[in-house]
Amino acid sequence: MRRPEGADALAMHRLVVESKVLDENSTYAYLLMATEFADTSIVAERDGQLHGFVMGYHPPTRPEALFVWQVVVAHAARGSGLGGAMLDSLVERVRRDRHGHPLTLEATVAPSNSASRALFGGFARRHGVPVIELPWYGAELLDAELAHEEEPLLRIGPIAVDLTS
Ligand SMILES: CC(C)(COP(=O)(O)OP(=O)(O)OC[C@H]1O[C@@H](n2cnc3c(N)ncnc32)[C@H](O)[C@@H]1OP(=O)(O)O)[C@@H](O)C(=O)NCCC(=O)NCCS
Repeated sequence: MRRPEGADALAMHRLVVESKVLDENSTYAYLLMATEFADTSIVAERDGQLHGFVMGYHPPTRPEALFVWQVVVAHAARGSGLGGAMLDSLVERVRRDRHGHPLTLEATVAPSNSASRALFGGFARRHGVPVIELPWYGAELLDAELAHEEEPLLRIGPIAVDLTS
């Protein structure tokens, strides 16, 4: 697991397309995240192939938060703990870069996305912190015909202790 770099953007885009669940952004968006937001993102690579990534950023109005925009694991690698390991590793690195300051993980998750809810629930359990769910992006903001589910916000934290300490 490592920071992303520009050369990862095409594979990141492909993982999202192949997920068939996540909203597909342009390759340019993944390139921007892989370069300008590398410090708050992580990729998992084996034998030169990307198997997953988490891309996040600090919202300017909530710098103590790490907002996870997208997290994905390749179909073949799912269910073996990679998603959780990427989240743990990213949060540990970001906290280290910020001299151990407490961090709250945030993500919006559609109500029907049970894998994603299990991923963030497991993260909260491992770190011994609560999950708070708030109304956030309503369906009417995401699609005129309401074809996109609402995206409530999960706030997980504050995380003030590393798992390894
Ligand atoms: C969500 C996703 C990243 C999880 O990755 P993963 O590597 O399979 O997750 P893990 O193996 O670390 O499992 C994390 C937890 O979720 C659970 N889980 C995994 N897949 C699940 C599923 N399909 N349904 C219910 N729970 C599931 C695991 O049992 C584990 O729970 P635990 O911590 O209580 O043991 C992956 O399923 C994926 O890429 N989904 C498509 C993209 C997506 O929906 N992204 C999230 C929205 S941004």
